[in-house]
Amino acid sequence: MKISIVQKELDRRNLPDLLVGPNHVSINTKEEWEKVGRPYWKKVLLQEEYGKIPPVLNPTIAIKKQPIDFAGKAIWEEVTFNFQKGEKSHKIPTQLIYPTRKEVAPFFIFINFCKEVPNKYLPIEEIIDNGFGVFTVFYEDVTSDDADFSNGLAGLFQETDRQGDDCGKIMYWSWMASRMMDYLSMRREADKNKIGVVGHSRLGKTALLTAALDDRFCFVCSNNSGCSGAALSRGRSEGGESVRDICRQFPYWFCPNYLQYADKENEAPFDQHCLLALVAPRKAYIGAALEDVWADNLSQFLNCVAASKVWRLYEKEGFEVPDDLPKCGDKFIDGDVGFHLREGKHYFSRTDWLIYMEAIQNAINK
Ligand code: GCU
Repeated sequence: MKISIVQKELDRRNLPDLLVGPNHVSINTKEEWEKVGRPYWKKVLLQEEYGKIPPVLNPTIAIKKQPIDFAGKAIWEEVTFNFQKGEKSHKIPTQLIYPTRKEVAPFFIFINFCKEVPNKYLPIEEIIDNGFGVFTVFYEDVTSDDADFSNGLAGLFQETDRQGDDCGKIMYWSWMASRMMDYLSMRREADKNKIGVVGHSRLGKTALLTAALDDRFCFVCSNNSGCSGAALSRGRSEGGESVRDICRQFPYWFCPNYLQYADKENEAPFDQHCLLALVAPRKAYIGAALEDVWADNLSQFLNCVAASKVWRLYEKEGFEVPDDLPKCGDKFIDGDVGFHLREGKHYFSRTDWLIYMEAIQNAINK
């Protein structure tokens, strides 16, 4: 891959070298990556950005068949998870929808902003018509999107004021996606080697974190995730969100340690390519929108290039891209890392869904 223009832009970012582990040890093979590199970057990101992973709880499950069936094309069940910890418990309803005409289907685990089914971000018919199933949760049923850590899952785990590497809300949403994976991988309707995680914006950050930490997910689609998601923080584009901006408005998404990097992203021992690289050698698709300046399209694109170093340890190409900066209409979905830049604003649109499904189908049929 010839990447001189792109490489120049990337060099300007001066990123920490993914292939240098603790005590300057260099990582040259996929075995060294798995033994040293991967655990090292995972530890850094948990300690400094997202916080510790809460321990696994095994829920009890209740299933209720739903009446609506999308013209007979889909079966819909409400699956309620009941988590119990000591005296406390918390119930989370999720929706499982899958094609009637297939015995097993590839699946999206979708952490969503909306509760109703279908909804503006969840085009059930398009998903079913493309042969996929979807297992979705409304994120605030997991825990609220604010600084209150006494409700929902957070209320089960966080007993004192948060400090240091106590996790933020993104980690709780992500934890739930992994519990949905525990359940879905036992259902015969799901092809368990073809389950991915998808989310938009703050939930695109969540989706990326989920796939980075849990290698049962064979793909991730991280839509318009921007700062602290798919976008590199170092050298961000004009108008892009900074670590200071996000820490000022949404400190509770992260662990308290992250706040020290406001205006100091250049001093952080990590950048967001460390997160994306943890998905290797699986598939990662990053979606951007032209008018979504806040999510910094160029920094999301450059991350795909930077993180590909790790896919190459697996003798995979990673991101396959011409030597040019991204322009509207670009759709690079042939590699293990994909990126598209559609017209329009910050949104999870049908266009994004169709591109992700095309990318995944191509990968599955290869
Ligand atoms: C804000 C925030 C972004 C986030 C977005 C969203 O704009 O600054 O980081 O991605 O909300 O989740 O909608």
